[in-house]
Amino acid sequence: MLVLDGVTAGYGTATVLRDVHLTVPRSSVVALLGPNGAGKTTLLRVASGLVSPWSGAVLLEGEDVTGLSPDGLARRGVCHVPEGRGVFPPLSVRENLLLFSPPGEERVGLERALEAFPDLAGRLDQTAGTMSGGQQQMLALARAYIAGGRVILLDEVSMGLAPIVVDEIFAFLERVAGEGVSLLLVEQYVNKALAIADYGYILSRGRISFAGDAAELADEDVFSRYLGIEVGAG
Ligand SMILES: Nc1ncnc2c1ncn2[C@@H]1O[C@H](COP(=O)(O)OP(=O)(O)OP(=O)(O)O)[C@@H](O)[C@H]1O
Ligand SMILES: [Mg+2]
Repeated sequence: MLVLDGVTAGYGTATVLRDVHLTVPRSSVVALLGPNGAGKTTLLRVASGLVSPWSGAVLLEGEDVTGLSPDGLARRGVCHVPEGRGVFPPLSVRENLLLFSPPGEERVGLERALEAFPDLAGRLDQTAGTMSGGQQQMLALARAYIAGGRVILLDEVSMGLAPIVVDEIFAFLERVAGEGVSLLLVEQYVNKALAIADYGYILSRGRISFAGDAAELADEDVFSRYLGIEVGAG
């Protein structure tokens, strides 16, 4: 579905990603893990066209989409839920949802969004920016869901949220994956991410240090070895 083929990228003169190979197969969940500053957000930005790679390619269903604009990629079904949500705070919940519904499908879109997150139903006229962090995150996910994305890139969507909201979000992600959408998931809740993931990658200082089955990574020894952290040393 989505392939990063030997991607090197960065900002200014600073290299952040080095020869990164990553594949998100159709209808699968891929967890991208790694320490702070490893380049996870940058990798998602490359995948959604916000950052152009210096070398290497981005392929979508076999088509070379390297260097395409974020809009162009969004039209092809690549949907990015950025760190820190990504709703339009001054707009109402309804307006936020309508903006992302495919034209002519606004009513269906709204219904699907509210069915996924019933909490939003009573808040359609509330200004998005006045909602709680958890509610805004649900709105951001609902928008990605109804936009008809084929690949959804999720950057720490559970950051700073109460455990009960995190559970609700993971249940939603599992359901979306079950509907045939591919997910590339950057997550601080490693165990939760691996529980719903098919494949896992570890990014360490801009390089992929592990690529394989999520189940393999769930083994703590494997995880810490590839992360470059010693646990229980001595
Ligand atoms: N817009 C930017 N301009 C310059 N440097 C940047 C920019 N964005 C990120 N960086 C740098 O790129 C490196 C990788 O950052 P990135 O945000 O991709 O890491 P991350 O793995 O998502 O980290 P975290 O887990 O903290 O979110 C960091 O050293 C960061 O300072
Ligand atoms: Mg990040």
